[in-house]
Amino acid sequence: MKILAIESSCDETAAAVVEDGRQILSNIVATQVEEHRLYGGVVPEIASRRHAEAISGVTREALQAADVTLADIDAVAVTAHPGLIGALLVGVNFAKGLAFSANKPLVPVHHLRGHIASNYPSHPDLKPPFLCLVVSGGHTHLVLCEDYTTFRIIGRTRDDAAGECFDKAARAMGMPYPGGIALDKRAEGGDPHAFVLPHPKVEGSPFDFSFSGLKTAVLNQLHNAKQRDITLNIEDLCASLRFTVADILVSKTVAAAKEYGMSTVVLAGGVSANSELRRQMQAACDKEGFKLYMPPLSLCGDNAAMIGAQGYYEFLAGNVADLSLNASATMSIE
Ligand code: KG4
Ligand code: ZN
Repeated sequence: MKILAIESSCDETAAAVVEDGRQILSNIVATQVEEHRLYGGVVPEIASRRHAEAISGVTREALQAADVTLADIDAVAVTAHPGLIGALLVGVNFAKGLAFSANKPLVPVHHLRGHIASNYPSHPDLKPPFLCLVVSGGHTHLVLCEDYTTFRIIGRTRDDAAGECFDKAARAMGMPYPGGIALDKRAEGGDPHAFVLPHPKVEGSPFDFSFSGLKTAVLNQLHNAKQRDITLNIEDLCASLRFTVADILVSKTVAAAKEYGMSTVVLAGGVSANSELRRQMQAACDKEGFKLYMPPLSLCGDNAAMIGAQGYYEFLAGNVADLSLNASATMSIE
C-alpha cells in the first residue's frame, strides 16, 4: 500500500511516498529555517505563508521522485496535530483537497506518533511493544507503545522540553536558531564535567522531567560571568549542559524500562540527533541488556516519511477521517 504523506506542523514543508509503512520511496523536505533564524525562532505567520507557497511543489516533487502519480497512491496521510495551528491547517486543507479530488482515503496522523514511526523504515525488525523516549522542540515524553496505535504516557516534562532547554541556552550563548544543533557541535571539544549543573527532580513522579531549572542555571552562569567580566569556556558549558540533559533523559528511560518490564527502547524526535544522548543511551542499554533503536539522523527532524510510516498503521487500525477533519494545536498522543 502506497501512502502520500504531508507534514507542515512547524517550519518544514514536507511530502513523502511510503510503501507499507516501512519502505520510503521518496522524502522531500523544504525547510524555512534560514528565514526564521533572522528572528531567533519560528514566526507562526511566516511559517503558514511559506507552507502555502511550497506545499504543491514539494508534493509534486515527492510523487515524481517516487516515480508514481496520484493514481498509484492508496491513501493520503497528513499531520493533523499537534503544532502551530496556521501551519497545520495548510497541510490538512491541502491533503483534504487531494484526497477529495482523487477519491482516496484521508488518514490523520499525530506528529509525535510520526516521530516514533521514523524508526520503522530503517529497523524492519522493530515492532511494539516498546518504551519510547520522544524528545523534540516542544515535547519530552516517555511513552509505552503497546501497539502501533495504542500509546500510554508514563512520564512527561512539567515545564520546558529538552529541545527548548538546548535552544534557549544556545540562544543566550549567541548561537543561531535552532540552537540545539549548534550547541551539540560546540560541546564536542568541551569538558562535560567542567560545570556542575542541577539534576532537577519532580517529587512523587519519578518518570516526569523538569528542565527549566537547568536552563536557568546555565543562564545564571552566563549572567554572573558577564557581571564579573569573566570569559567562560563556552565549549565546556555546552558539554556540561549536553551531558547533564542526556544523563537525566537516559537514567529516567532506563528506570522506566525496568519498572514496566520493557527490554526494547526506542528514541524519537529532533533531539534524538544529539550525539551525547545517542552515546549515553547506547551505553546504558548495552549495560542493561536492552535492545536500542534510534532513527537515522536524516529522519530525526521533522519529515513526511515518518507521517507516511505511521499513516499506514493508522489506516490499518481504521483511523480514517472524512472531509470534516480539522487541525488542532494540542492533542495527546494517547
Ligand atoms: O522534532 P523536531 O524537529 O521539531 C519538533 O517537533 O519540535 O525537534 C526540533 C528540536 C529543536 O529544539 C532542535 O534544537 C533540536 O530538536 N535538535 C537538537 C539536535 N538536533 C535538533 N538538539 C540537540 N542536539 C542536536 N543534535
Ligand atoms: Zn517534530
